[in-house]
Amino acid sequence: MIKAIKGMKDILPEEIPQWRRIEQAARDVFESYLYREIRTPVLEPTELFSRSIGNATDIVEKEMYTFEDSHQSVSMRPENTAGVVRALIEARLYEARGPQRYYYVGPMFRRERPQKGRFRQFHQIGIEAFGDPGPYVDAEIIQMTCRFFRELGIHGYEVRVNSLGCHTCRPAYVEKLKMAIYLIEGSLCEDCRRRRETNPLRVLDCKNCQEQLSGLPLITENLCLPCLEHFDGFRAHLQQFSIPYVLAPRLVRGLDYYTRTAFEFASVSGALGSQNSLLGGGRYDGLVKNLGGPEVVGIGFALGIERLILALTGPPAEPTPVAYVAHLEMEGFRKAVELAEKLRDQGVAVAVANPLKQLKAQFKEADRIGATTVYVIGPDEIRDGVVKVKDMTTGEQRVVPENDIVPSFSE
Ligand code: HAM
Repeated sequence: MIKAIKGMKDILPEEIPQWRRIEQAARDVFESYLYREIRTPVLEPTELFSRSIGNATDIVEKEMYTFEDSHQSVSMRPENTAGVVRALIEARLYEARGPQRYYYVGPMFRRERPQKGRFRQFHQIGIEAFGDPGPYVDAEIIQMTCRFFRELGIHGYEVRVNSLGCHTCRPAYVEKLKMAIYLIEGSLCEDCRRRRETNPLRVLDCKNCQEQLSGLPLITENLCLPCLEHFDGFRAHLQQFSIPYVLAPRLVRGLDYYTRTAFEFASVSGALGSQNSLLGGGRYDGLVKNLGGPEVVGIGFALGIERLILALTGPPAEPTPVAYVAHLEMEGFRKAVELAEKLRDQGVAVAVANPLKQLKAQFKEADRIGATTVYVIGPDEIRDGVVKVKDMTTGEQRVVPENDIVPSFSE
């Protein structure tokens, strides 16, 4: 038997209603804030990710599916901010009229160690907003996410916020941080010791070393005045929207493009185990320029659909009603096909019984496919202008005039 690749899974038909519900809620909520859908390729030049996410990040260092194609190195997208920024530059979307606000839904690929809530092919819903320096929009996208979570009935999460400074204040802070890490290096894990040189900010959110890190300088205490004002403004708007949040001065996230605002929605219900980040995002004011575009600022987030599903509580979606049309003899079969088409015109999902099956076997099949209503038509019913209708959940049977089933059925 050939099995799916570890960490890549099928989404089976019974799971699809939940996926659709999540995707539809995202579309409805995001479009009500003037975001429009964008679809970008799954495969992009590797350089796009190394220049945006950063060479010294776990994603680029070891998690991308990369191969040579037509003499260039290409990678399966591990995330989609880079792709959307590339599209913005390539199609000069920044010159278009109207808000430059985009959302996307699709698969991403990271060669991570699979575990609960962590896959090698996973699906993100994300948004990116360009050209707005904030801080109002920073808070607005958090408000929008809270609305989206409310729509889905997701509770038990915490909004964590931080500022990562900018290209003016961060370099001095990073030097200070490096020095402080150097002083406690002996007590840190191997990854942190390596990252002191390659990516010192990532040391801050190392899950293994939190206790040893408690004395390190915090970025929020080393911001320049404009970054501080931006952060204060962002928090004031969150307060204005009555959104509770937690200050998380060691929240860094694993992508190098972030500047100023960084945030995360973390599940605190225990439903996700150690992979408790439902959604992550932040501002990336230098990214468009860095990828060859003009000076256009940006902010966005992405959430993992698989993780969102783990966090969903409450009853599963109601099964969609399914009708089954049983029939007797050729006359009944013809009428059954007609009735099925009329029901489909009304948006009902219908199966017509296989004409080679006896009535008893037809009922067995109706049961097997989970039909909620069975219609029966034979010569007697045709003669009397009626249809027998059986409610499969209650077992109740009625005889209904043809006209009352679908108004135009007997025409
Ligand atoms: P990220 O923090 O790398 O950010 O991922 C965002 C979300 O994707 C995570 O919070 C998690 O729910 C989900 N996720 C990530 N990796 C996996 C995995 N291996 N298995 C399952 N789910 C996963 C980004 O991707 C940024 N592009 C977000 C962003 C948009 N920032 C600005 N704009």
